[in-house]
Amino acid sequence: MSEPGKMWGGRFQGSLDPDFAEWQKSLTVDWQLAFADLEVNRHWSTALHGAGLFTTDELARVHAAIDDLANAWVERGVPADDPDAEDVHSLVERELGKRCGDLAKRIHTGRSRNDQVATDLRLYLRERIFGCLDGIRDLCAALVDKAAAHHDAPIPGYTHLQRAQPITIGHHSLAHAEALGRDRDRFLDAFARLDVCPLGSGALAGTPVAVDRQALAKGLGFHGGPSRNSLDATSARDHVCELAFCCAMTLTNLSRLAEDYIFFASREAAFLRFGDVVSTGSSLMPQKRNPDAMELVRAKAGQAQGHLVALLTTVKGLPMAYNRDLQDDKQSLLPTLVQTETTLRMAALAVRNAEFDLARCAAEAERGYLNATDLADLLVAAGVAFRDAHEQVGAAVNRAVELGVELHELPASERSRLLPQLTGDLRVELAAPAVLARRDGIGGTAPRRVRLEVEAWQKLLIEWDADGGPEEPS
Ligand code: ARG
Repeated sequence: MSEPGKMWGGRFQGSLDPDFAEWQKSLTVDWQLAFADLEVNRHWSTALHGAGLFTTDELARVHAAIDDLANAWVERGVPADDPDAEDVHSLVERELGKRCGDLAKRIHTGRSRNDQVATDLRLYLRERIFGCLDGIRDLCAALVDKAAAHHDAPIPGYTHLQRAQPITIGHHSLAHAEALGRDRDRFLDAFARLDVCPLGSGALAGTPVAVDRQALAKGLGFHGGPSRNSLDATSARDHVCELAFCCAMTLTNLSRLAEDYIFFASREAAFLRFGDVVSTGSSLMPQKRNPDAMELVRAKAGQAQGHLVALLTTVKGLPMAYNRDLQDDKQSLLPTLVQTETTLRMAALAVRNAEFDLARCAAEAERGYLNATDLADLLVAAGVAFRDAHEQVGAAVNRAVELGVELHELPASERSRLLPQLTGDLRVELAAPAVLARRDGIGGTAPRRVRLEVEAWQKLLIEWDADGGPEEPS
């Protein structure tokens, strides 16, 4: 007879080294799969009933035990620190045994923990993806609101972190929304690929029990039906790596948003101010007001990237099919998913509580020669070849720097010497609003174009709400 809480003792006389016994447990992580495991038990026992292995009365007693255990865990929480259970599957089996006696021992007929954990994990991941999708939606909504409020507000645009051309705050906000929209697509793609039911694959070779795997997959809400190869189904973890990538990419995109806002909040830029709800002070320097919320948002990509590499490295070179190495997948992916969801929420909070100083942004958009390209374009319109115009404006910028003025402030004498082909009023033609308005084509920063993009995004957010991708598992 095996030790209590052990699912595989029959062949063994001795017991495990106590340190190894402790070290190989996974309950501290996989307890999170407890409710998914209960659902898997519910549907597997139904399938066994369909195959004639449980009477209707027995099945009812098994389901009553599962309901009772689920209620107990909803009330008291799952005992993640249970000292006697090796993993969540043995914990569930033991607890069901207390409620339906020897019937609990029969649920594992024709099943392995290998197809069980693969199914549990897919069920759990589907739930968590919805959390990430909601988080992405929330942050996109915050960015779209920002863009709607500031669709025409000028701010310096940078390349190489050097002032380049003016853009609108709305355009900047929607740039980050675009990246998040692609992250959303990636999560949905990953969802579709993992939405397949491994249950009924046994340990590696399939199950000898005549279960209806189509009905089983349907009952568990897997839209992709049953998996088609038991070796693959029990050992594949590419969907785990793929989701880890979705998280790492999303958090990497968030780190870029965070960095922009942190820079904008610096004294040097002073384009925005974070509200008290997302700012912290210094224990030493009384004047400090630190953008800690966005700094932590910026940090999270590091851990997620590390977890992605850990997962790929764990799977690399594993022989077909299940290997115990795979137990460690959850340790990398589960915290990453939770962190992604939470970080999206924090980023949305920080965006909502960041107030742009519109007057300063507009004033700075007129400084630092951001209109030099437009000056060259004016020369082109006056018949100068672009390469020559570029040279000419370069010289004009040098002179303006010497005089400490902007291009549109060059004194008349300098202007007629350096830019003889131009006759118009440069103060009007080179003002930021004029520079912005010229970039009116698809994808440009002109207020009119940004307004249209805001409207498109508002529609898209409504579509996301109405058709948020796949149906949530019931
Ligand atoms: N706890 C394991 C995991 O998460 C499942 C158990 C499979 N164990 C085994 N020896 N086949 O992967």
